[in-house]
Amino acid sequence: MHDHNHDHHGETAASPDIWQPPSYEEVEEKTRQYVLGTYTRYPVAFYFGQGAMLYDLEQKEYIDFLSGISVTNLGHGEADIVEAIREQAERIIHSSNLYYNAEQAQFAEALILHTFPGKVFFSNSGAEANEAAFKLMRRHGQLNKSGAQRIIATEHSFHGRTAAAMAMTGNTKIRTGFGNLLPEISHIPADLTTLERTFEQYGGEICGMIFEIVQGEGGINPLPVDFVRRARELCTQYNAVLVVDEIQTGLGRTGKLFAFEHYDILPDAMSLAKSLGGGLPLGALIISEEHAATLEAGMHGSTFGGNHLACRVGFEILRILVGREIVDNVNAMSEYFFQRLKMMQEKIPAIQDVRGIGLMIGIELDRPSRPVAARCLEKGLIVNATADTVIRLLPPLNLDLDTAARGLDLLEEAFLELKS
Ligand SMILES: Cc1ncc(COP(=O)(O)O)c(C=O)c1O
Repeated sequence: MHDHNHDHHGETAASPDIWQPPSYEEVEEKTRQYVLGTYTRYPVAFYFGQGAMLYDLEQKEYIDFLSGISVTNLGHGEADIVEAIREQAERIIHSSNLYYNAEQAQFAEALILHTFPGKVFFSNSGAEANEAAFKLMRRHGQLNKSGAQRIIATEHSFHGRTAAAMAMTGNTKIRTGFGNLLPEISHIPADLTTLERTFEQYGGEICGMIFEIVQGEGGINPLPVDFVRRARELCTQYNAVLVVDEIQTGLGRTGKLFAFEHYDILPDAMSLAKSLGGGLPLGALIISEEHAATLEAGMHGSTFGGNHLACRVGFEILRILVGREIVDNVNAMSEYFFQRLKMMQEKIPAIQDVRGIGLMIGIELDRPSRPVAARCLEKGLIVNATADTVIRLLPPLNLDLDTAARGLDLLEEAFLELKS
């Protein structure tokens, strides 16, 4: 891997001159008092990060196997990203989409070069990228299919928390409690028979289909190859827009630049966010040439979307990902992770399954995963609990072997403590 001009291994604690933090208790108290209580938080507040290491307010060190839920995929404090932010912020951060913007034009070109011919809509988040996808599908139905407006989505999917993204999400826990949702969205299991039956039943009404190639929040479920390929064929046959949500899987996470490449298909549109801006709020919907004229001037927009700073950083991240051959490291690390995890599965009865692709890994337990994630945190390892019983790992894509080994040692320790 490319050599950086600073130490990524973070063996030493942070330099004391930046260390003037408030106490943890103060942060927790203010959060409880002033921040809307929509999150269940673990009792830690991070203050500093370097490479794959994070440090909390008490300078306790953690190995980061989560990357802020697949956002800081090149680690914390990556020197060239920090420099791009600094340089860009000094020159210009934002001017609005009333004008042209060099960074946006340059980043859009780079994204198209690395995906498929078409055009980019920039948003600030994953949910907003999927809102744009929703409007694209619905507009396509209005324009090209006699007002067809049914959208096919999958069970156990996650597409975000805004109105359309929530309605497309295949998890009743996320969809319920808000009254009527947007109509004509069908959630189907990811199996071939149901897929074919659904198109037979609704074909003429369907304007689009959306799925994650590997479901992330749903517990790391790669969709079956026959399902994905047939969905592509049926969308073409029935003149429906196929949207792939690569918000979590995209940009190297699965061992290819985009997960759809594993399945040998091309979507009509693809949503991206999370690691696209490396922690700056940035999302995108990439729309193929064929569908790029569907949303016309005045039909969609965003004040922040694709501003100078976000796009400059996005461009820098993509340049690093491709230029330093980070995806090769994903594949090498992935092999090591799966080898170690399969060995753990053999000796730890609580582990029911180890699955995933690249560095998007789920470990299914026979019990709730949250207490296990909490125990890992106490030991200095950051992992995530999702889908009730799954431990999800999303380590940085440029992780080195030594840190990977130390993190997996801690994970194994936590698993060994589980009573059968
Ligand atoms: C596949 C997928 N789609 C959409 C989203 C929503 O993105 P955001 O939280 O940026 O709105 C997420 C976030 O976890 C995701 O994993």
